[in-house]
Amino acid sequence: EYTMPESLRRVLVTGGAGYIGSHVIYSLQDTRRYKVISVDNHHNSTPKSLVRVAELARSNLPADASEQDKDSAEIDAFAADLTKPEEVRKVFERYGKGGIWGVVHIAAYKAVGESTEIPLTYYANNVGATITLLQIMAEFDCTRIVYSSSATVYGTPPIIPIPETTRLEAQSPYGKTKIMCETVIEDLCNAEPKTWRALSLRYFNPAGAHPSGQIGEDPRGRPGNLLPLLAHMAIGRVKDPKLNVFGNDYPTPDGTCVRDYLHVLDLAKGHLLALDALAPQSKVFDNCPGEGRYKAYNLGKGKGMSVLQIVDAMRKATAYDYKYEIIGRRKGDVPDLTADPALAERELGFKAQQTLETMCRDLWNWQTKNPNGYDGDGSVGFGIF
Ligand code: NAD
Ligand code: WQD
Repeated sequence: EYTMPESLRRVLVTGGAGYIGSHVIYSLQDTRRYKVISVDNHHNSTPKSLVRVAELARSNLPADASEQDKDSAEIDAFAADLTKPEEVRKVFERYGKGGIWGVVHIAAYKAVGESTEIPLTYYANNVGATITLLQIMAEFDCTRIVYSSSATVYGTPPIIPIPETTRLEAQSPYGKTKIMCETVIEDLCNAEPKTWRALSLRYFNPAGAHPSGQIGEDPRGRPGNLLPLLAHMAIGRVKDPKLNVFGNDYPTPDGTCVRDYLHVLDLAKGHLLALDALAPQSKVFDNCPGEGRYKAYNLGKGKGMSVLQIVDAMRKATAYDYKYEIIGRRKGDVPDLTADPALAERELGFKAQQTLETMCRDLWNWQTKNPNGYDGDGSVGFGIF
């Protein structure tokens, strides 16, 4: 029987079936240096995405792929809820103490509006899952973690572009769960500076899909986010296909809100760089603010795009004639969230290179190949349990 060689690093990805998780797994497998374990309870995803990712990895294997290469293209997928210690423990038990090199913790609930309606559910799931995960990691001597944070931790930022040193001040319960989880992880690193290493990645606005059109963002119902909504409108999935533009009286060039959109595969590569930075030889922890080996990085392009610029780019990508109306501001929106990406570039070597055009092209390619998302393909997913 084949046993995994030491040279494949086992990495556990939580939320692996989701939009960002599936692209992160793709990028990990593409290096053929990792063996990916995915944990997801499919609250907001389907295991079909994992089937597609593994298919992509297999099809990318060279003709002379070794047994190890072939192993790296398969995912150990677990359907488990991270808030349930016994379910998480079962996953770690399968690999034993020290059997998992590190964790990329992506799983969370992420709807800002919903979090203001059911805050307790958000705190229990996002903060609860993170604490449970960290406890079980410690039990199994797994003390390296990359955490999915968000630009939403900056609230209304005092300076644009936003450096990581900006004070944290989220407005929504969702945003507060991101600050809380960062804090929990940082405190743990400070308490056990010889043991833990952690990086929080503050994503700006991820967009687009893998260029194959095999994986992508698959929101249920009418999308609340701008780019998926524009894609659903162009494919004919939206009943009243008119975009409500939430305000044009912001202090921005055209009055509409500005965001820092980056390609989801650029974002995924940031996770590879962050994982490498958790290795012993890494220099990123040489100048930490605290005792422990903990840092946070912005992942963005550093280029702001307005709502109307996005509509225009999607019009070019889809040839669909968008109708829009300017309505009042959406509660909780801030005028401008543009990253200062210099720290991640300098210390991680991260650069989000893909253009708004490729983001829109890849989003539209995914949407046209999967007009009903993963649900349209009639297949079933897989899992270990
Ligand atoms: P997503 O909903 O597509 O993926 C999250 C995944 O986590 C889902 O598959 C969901 O089923 C899973 N999950 C949630 N709770 C779980 C639990 N208790 N146990 C196991 N699995 C659980 O969302 P996404 O867009 O891929 O976002 C991923 C992460 O990135 C989240 O932490 C989110 O807060 C963060 N983030 C996303 C964005 C964005 O715009 N998409 C921006 C900034 C930060
Ligand atoms: C983008 C712009 C809207 C829809 C959200 C979360 C954030 C992060 C990413 C997780 C805004 C405008 C939108 C519409 C519009 N997620 N818009 N009409 O709000 O920047 O970020 O997702 O961490 O925390 O808040 O993204 O796509 O919802 O909006 O005018 O129907 O488009 O006002 O300026 P947002 P979005």
